[in-house]
Amino acid sequence: MTEKLSRNERIKEASDYLRGTLAEGLREQITGAITEDDAQLVKFHGMYLQDDRDLRPERTRKKMEKAFAFMLRVRVPGGVLSTTQWLALDRVARDYGNHTVRLTTRQSVQLHGVIKSNLKPTLQAIDSVLLNTIAACGDVNRNVMCNPNPYHSRAHGAALELARAISDHLTPRTPAYREIWLDGERIVGGEEEVIEPIYGKTYLPRKFKTVVAVPPSNDVDVFAHDLGFIAILDRNGGVEGWNITVGGGMGMTHGEPDTYPRTADVMGFCATEDALAIAEAVVTVQRDWGDRANRKHARVKYTIEDRGLDVFRTEVERRAKVKLHAARSFAFTSTGDRYGWTEGEDGQAHLTLFIGNGRVRDVGPGTQQLSALRQIAKLHEGDFRLTANQNLIIAKVSPERRPAIEQIAAANALLVPSSGLRRNSMACVALPTCGLALAESERYMPDLLDALEDTLAGHGLSSDDIVIRMTGCPNGCARPYLAEIGLVGKGPGRYNLYLGAAFEGSRLSKLYAEDLDHAAITERLEPLFAAYAAERQPGEHFGDFVIRAGWIARTSNGRDFHANVGPRRPA
Ligand code: HEM
Ligand code: SF4
Repeated sequence: MTEKLSRNERIKEASDYLRGTLAEGLREQITGAITEDDAQLVKFHGMYLQDDRDLRPERTRKKMEKAFAFMLRVRVPGGVLSTTQWLALDRVARDYGNHTVRLTTRQSVQLHGVIKSNLKPTLQAIDSVLLNTIAACGDVNRNVMCNPNPYHSRAHGAALELARAISDHLTPRTPAYREIWLDGERIVGGEEEVIEPIYGKTYLPRKFKTVVAVPPSNDVDVFAHDLGFIAILDRNGGVEGWNITVGGGMGMTHGEPDTYPRTADVMGFCATEDALAIAEAVVTVQRDWGDRANRKHARVKYTIEDRGLDVFRTEVERRAKVKLHAARSFAFTSTGDRYGWTEGEDGQAHLTLFIGNGRVRDVGPGTQQLSALRQIAKLHEGDFRLTANQNLIIAKVSPERRPAIEQIAAANALLVPSSGLRRNSMACVALPTCGLALAESERYMPDLLDALEDTLAGHGLSSDDIVIRMTGCPNGCARPYLAEIGLVGKGPGRYNLYLGAAFEGSRLSKLYAEDLDHAAITERLEPLFAAYAAERQPGEHFGDFVIRAGWIARTSNGRDFHANVGPRRPA
C-alpha cells in the first residue's frame, strides 16, 4: 500500500511536522534556492520558491543560477486588514519585495521577489503586525474567505466571525514556523495527537479551501471551493444558519480528461453552533479518504465523485455528531464587487476600489497606486478589506475623511472603471513569477480588455456586466471556468476559450475554441457580442445567452465536464 504513496506524502512524513531541512537551507549561502524537498515543505509556510522567468534565457547564456526568489502569501481570514497591517505589508514590499503588493483571488496578499536572505526579516516584519503566512499554501486548509463588504452589517459580522473561527481551528499547530522564521525555541517531542490533532503527521492529501458566502453576493465563488458555508438570513438580516457546500474545485490538466473543474454540491443545512464541527469533520474525512497516491486526483471533488455525496455526508454527520437538515433556499445574483461608495445598514460608508488584476504598484503620474493606498492608510481610521475579485474596500470611512480619500483614489485611477467587462475581470499572476504558467495572464489582460472594449462599444455593450477571467495555465487560480468568458493559457500567446458559465457563479463553462492567439480571440468573440446585442432577452446574461442561442452546450458538472466539447452554432 505505502509504496503507492505520492512523493509529497513521503516528504511530509519525513519532515518532522514541516521542518525538513529548511533551517539549514536558509543558512546555505552558495545558492538562492533550497532543496527540492524543502521547496515542497516551504509551501506549508506560505511560500513558493520561484525564479524570474523573464531572466532565464540571459542567465542560462551566462551560465548563472536562475534568478531565484520567493513568493510569500499572507493569510488574511475574511480579507480584513488594519491600516497598520497594510502599511507593514507596503513597507516589506518596498524593502524586500519587488515594490508591488498583489491582492489575490482568495483574499490574501502576495509579495513577490523576496530573496532567501531576506525571508526572515520579511516574516518577522509581518509577524510584528500580527500577520503570518502559515498554511497560506500547502496541503492544508488555506486562507478562509468571506464576503468582505460590511454593507449587510449583521450577516456580515456573523460570516466574518465564522470565517475567523474556522481559520483558527484549522491552522496547523506545528511549532516549525515560529522556530524557523521567528527564531522561536525548538520544541522537541510530543505526541502526534498533541502536535497536529486534526491533521496528523501527513496533513491533507492536497490543498483545501474554505469560504463563507452572504447571499445575494457570491463574490467568494462558493461553488469553486472544497468547503463552503452559505449564510441563510432571517427576517431581521441576521443569520439563521448555514447551507454547507462541498466538492468544488477548479484545477485540471490539458489533455487529461480524468481531471476536471467541478462546482460544489449543497450538502445540507446546519446551525451556527454546529458549523465548526462540520468543518472539522469534512477535513478529517478528506484526510482519511482523499487520494494520497495521485495528486491530480486528491481534492475533495474527486472523493465526492468517487464515493457519492450521500456516503460523504453520512460520514461527516457521524464524525461531527450532527445530523444535517435539508438545505434551505437561497439566491445569488452576482460574483462581482459593488464598486464605489456603499452605505451599510449601520450608516457606515465603504469605498470599493478597482485594482487591475490585484497588482498594486506605482506606474507613473495618475497611477501611483501603491503610494496612494499608503497615503489613504495613513489618514483612514477604519480598515482595509480585500475582496475575492482582487479589489480593495476602504471600509468604515468617517464623514470627515471621505472627500480626501475619494480624491486620492480618483487621482490614481482607483475608482470604478467604465466598462462592464473590466469591472468583472480577473487574471492570475502567471509570468514572470509563476513556474507553472504556459502563457501570460496578468500582463496581457489589460491589452485584451482594451481590444474587447472597442468591440463591445461597437455593439452598444460597454456598460453591460460580463464576467471575464484569464489564467496562464489550466490550474485555474483566477477561477476561469466560472467566468462567462474564460481564457486559459495553452502555450506562449495561445489560449483556450471557455464560454457559458453562469453570471452568479453556479454553473461551469465549456471549451469553445482552442489555441487562439490575440487576433483569434477577438475575432471569435465579435460575432457572439453582435448576436448578444441583437438577440438577448431583457436581463439575460451573456453566459446564459450563449447557451440559449445555441453557441455552446450547457455544461455537465463533474467528470462529464469535457463531454460535448466545442461550439454548436457555426461561428
Ligand atoms: C491545481 C493546481 C494549482 C496549482 C499548482 C497552483 C499554483 C499556484 C502558484 C505557483 C501560484 C503563484 C503564482 C505567483 O504568484 O507567481 C498561484 C497563485 C494563486 N493561486 Fe493557484 N494553483 C492551483 C490552483 C488554484 C486554484 C483552483 C485557485 C483558486 C480557486 C488558486 C488560487 C490562487 C491564488 C489566489 C493565487 C494568487 C494569485 C492570484 O490572485 O491569481 N490556485 N497558484
Ligand atoms: S493559473 Fe497557472 S499560471 Fe496562473 S498563477 Fe495559477 S498556476 Fe500560475
